Amino acid sequence: MSSSLDIERARADTPGVRNVTHLNNAGAALPPRQVLDPVLEHLRREAEIGGYEAAHAAQERLEAAYGSIARLVNCDPGEIAIVDSATRAWDMVFYGLRLAPGDRILTSEVEYASNYLAFLHAGMRVDVVPSDAHGQLDVDALERMLDERVRLVAVTHVPTNGGLVNPAAAIGRLARAHGIPFLLDACQSVGQLPVDAQAIGCDFLSATGRKFLRGPRGTGFLYVRRERLEEIDPPFIDLHAARWTARDAYELRPDARRFEGWEANVAAKLGLGAAADYANAWGIEAIWARVRELAGALRTQLVGIDGVVLRDLGPEPCGIVTFTKAGVEPRELVLALRREGINVWFSDTASTRIDMEQRGLESLVRVSVHYYNDLSEIERFCVRLRRS
Ligand SMILES: Cc1ncc(COP(=O)(O)O)c(C=O)c1O
Repeated sequence: MSSSLDIERARADTPGVRNVTHLNNAGAALPPRQVLDPVLEHLRREAEIGGYEAAHAAQERLEAAYGSIARLVNCDPGEIAIVDSATRAWDMVFYGLRLAPGDRILTSEVEYASNYLAFLHAGMRVDVVPSDAHGQLDVDALERMLDERVRLVAVTHVPTNGGLVNPAAAIGRLARAHGIPFLLDACQSVGQLPVDAQAIGCDFLSATGRKFLRGPRGTGFLYVRRERLEEIDPPFIDLHAARWTARDAYELRPDARRFEGWEANVAAKLGLGAAADYANAWGIEAIWARVRELAGALRTQLVGIDGVVLRDLGPEPCGIVTFTKAGVEPRELVLALRREGINVWFSDTASTRIDMEQRGLESLVRVSVHYYNDLSEIERFCVRLRRS
C-alpha cells in the first residue's frame, strides 16, 4: 500500500501504538506527542507558577489555536469558538436560534442521538429527509421538502454508526439558495476528510477534538459564519461571552467566542490547537486518501470472514467500518478484544435510532481506522475476528 504520508514517522510520533492496536479512532484517536507534550507542559506550568499566570504566559499560543482551527476548516479565526465538546458547540446554535413551535427542522436519517434529543427536548417539529438508494441523504427529497416554514437544516456529515459521508456541499447549496440556516455536525469528519466550511456552504459547524483530529478529550469547536452571528442568541452567557457595560446593560463579544465560557481547560485548548496544526502539517487530503485505503483493505478482508455482514452506507465510505457477525454480540467482542490490546467499539440503536430501526439493526461492531494505523494492525484484528 502506497501513501504520500511517512507512516513510520506518524507511528513514531504516536506513543500509544506501542501498547495497543487502536482501531477506535471514531471514539477517541491516539494523540501524537505533538499534542500530548504541550498539554502536559501546560499542566506542569499551572502547578509551578499558577493557573492564571500560566494562561497569561501561553496567551499567544492560545490565540494561535483559533487560527489553526480556522485554517483546518477554511474560515476566519473570529468565526471559531472553542468549547468542551461537539455537543456543546451544536447546542449553542440549536438552542440559540430560539425556534418557535410551528417552525420546521429538516434533518437526516442518521442524525446523532444527542442532536435528536435536543429536538425532542425543545418540542420542535422535525422532518427527516429520506435517504437515497446509496443510504445518503436524498438531496432531491430535501429540495422538495424545503418551504417557508423550514427554519433549520441540521445534518450529520459522517454518522457514528457507519461509513456514510453525507453530501454536505449539495445540502449547503440548497440551504443557501433558500436562505435557510444550515448546521453541520462534522464531529466524525473533521480530521478524517476535507471539511471546508466555504466549499460546503454551511452556516454553522460543530466538531470534537478527541476523534479524528487526535486532540485531547473534553475539547470541541464551533464555526459560526460571520453573517449569521447575530441570528444566534447565546442560550447562556458569562463575563467572557459578554461585557457588563452598565447596571442594566451588557454587550456580547463581537466574535464567535460569545459562545464560550470564561473557565476552560487551558491545557486542553492548547492541545486542540496543536492537534489542528498537526493535521494541517500532514495535509488533510493525504490523510483522507490513506484513511480510505486502509478502510478499503479492512472491508475487503471482512467480507471474506464467515458470518460477517458489512453495514456501511454511502457510495464512497469513510474510515468508520461497521459490521455484524453471526453469533457475535458486539459489546462482548469489544470487551474481549480490549483484554488482548485491540481497541474497537460498538454502536447501538440508542445512538442513531432512526437509521438503526429502519435497517432492523440493534448493535454493530465499529472499527475505525486512521492514517497512522497500518496493515499489520488490520490483519491482527481480522485474524482475531475469524476466531470469534
Ligand atoms: C455524529 C456525532 N455527533 C456528535 C457527537 C458528540 O460528540 P461529543 O461527544 O464531542 O459531544 C458524536 C460522538 O460520537 C458523533 O458521533
